Amino acid sequence: MQFKTIIEPFRIKAVEPIRHTTRAEREIALQEAGYNLFLLRAEDVLIDLLTDSGTGAMSSGQWAGMMLGDESYAGAKSFYKFETAVRHITGFKHVIPTHQGRAAERILFGSALKPGDIVPNNTHFDTTRANTEFRGAIALDIPIPEGRDPQIILPFKGNIDLGKLEQTLRENPGNVPLAMITVTNNSGGGQPVSMANIRAASEICHRYGVPFFLDACRFAENAYFIKLREEGYADKTPLEIAQEMFSYADGATMSAKKDGMANIGGFLALNDDALAQECKNMLILTEGFPTYGGLAGYDLEAIAVGLEEVLHEDYLEYRLRSVAYLGDILTKAGVPIMQPPGGHAIYIDAKAMLPHIPQSEYPAWALSLALYLEGGIRSVEIGSVMFGQQPDGREIPAAMELVRLAFPRRVYTQSHVDYLAEVILHVNSMKEQIRGVRITASPPVLRHFSARLAPTHGGLFAT
Ligand code: F0G
Repeated sequence: MQFKTIIEPFRIKAVEPIRHTTRAEREIALQEAGYNLFLLRAEDVLIDLLTDSGTGAMSSGQWAGMMLGDESYAGAKSFYKFETAVRHITGFKHVIPTHQGRAAERILFGSALKPGDIVPNNTHFDTTRANTEFRGAIALDIPIPEGRDPQIILPFKGNIDLGKLEQTLRENPGNVPLAMITVTNNSGGGQPVSMANIRAASEICHRYGVPFFLDACRFAENAYFIKLREEGYADKTPLEIAQEMFSYADGATMSAKKDGMANIGGFLALNDDALAQECKNMLILTEGFPTYGGLAGYDLEAIAVGLEEVLHEDYLEYRLRSVAYLGDILTKAGVPIMQPPGGHAIYIDAKAMLPHIPQSEYPAWALSLALYLEGGIRSVEIGSVMFGQQPDGREIPAAMELVRLAFPRRVYTQSHVDYLAEVILHVNSMKEQIRGVRITASPPVLRHFSARLAPTHGGLFAT
């Protein structure tokens, strides 16, 4: 290619207005939301980076596909299209649609886990952890140690610690019903996992007779990182790489709201006949018949097309580059971020940026509030509000205090990102004034979604 500028590989056919608010309006909105960005009205947000889940723009191909949706209760054409698309990439025998990723987790764990079991993972995401703990099982995070250090630059910081995986399996025979790897490692900074690590983890699991699953939400981004960074994959297509990744696994849970490029949907796919049958029975009880799993026929169509589009190389190149673009600006300006930038988000390292706020006063949460107040940006805390509360009620500070700026797929353009950078640099210039927060009301599980908080020292900023 002669020119170096990587452009958005699409043009825009439908637009959705976004709304500016004043700082005073945002101040009131924050108070009304109990200082919890989850409780804001979306129309009060200018740039919404709360999540890349279900927030993407669908393509003309996906919208066209939706018109073909077959809404038959059982055996719809749309299901077979969906099943073919999933099987083409994953190779799994049983493809079970679900309304989103956490439904796949609940159904799999409901059948496979019993109280006291241990599930190792490079890092569980919040719903995966919660669904494991809901079964009375232990969600064990064993990323490589470097994965917990935001500053170290490594190509595959999402890798699982193979030594700890083997030790866990050796020391707990009969109590590890399955092991998982999350690609990319969302809670660990969106970091990719290498093919070598997936292959080795699979080999260890199978040596101990333990099924190995992928949490595959961002499998396409992970495949492209492998293409760019791992020896021997430069000439392979993202599809070939994804197929190899899945070939080492016995099954996968998937949120199609991420690399399925759809606004809703997910699946559980696996090879074990007996387990699949049990999962399908549970699916009928709570989600729907196994050929729609709680989705409309048109959702299955949108996902089938999305799974094909997400592996296009020009899309993946643009996707990774647009995230790295923000990362480069922040790094040059000295804003500490999880290095190197991952596939779907930039994670600001709030512990490093705000050393004056102790973890007991939730520095990442406070920073996310400051970004909203100053610039109307919504991000999400991945820190001690999200992960500090233990199942037994104790409070243990999270390993990292991160603010995640997740990029919805195909939604924002470069000027949005330039604006974003400007706001972050502005907040960085006044970081000494940012003050911590405390929790004033909190539910017993997954508290970050609905807790109410308040600034510890009167206001969010010292005056
Ligand atoms: N696994 C991972 C790694 C995830 O990131 C998510 C969702 C899920 C499972 C659950 O999928 O939302 O479809 O039920 N992550 C979103 C996020 C919510 O913001 O990262 P779901």
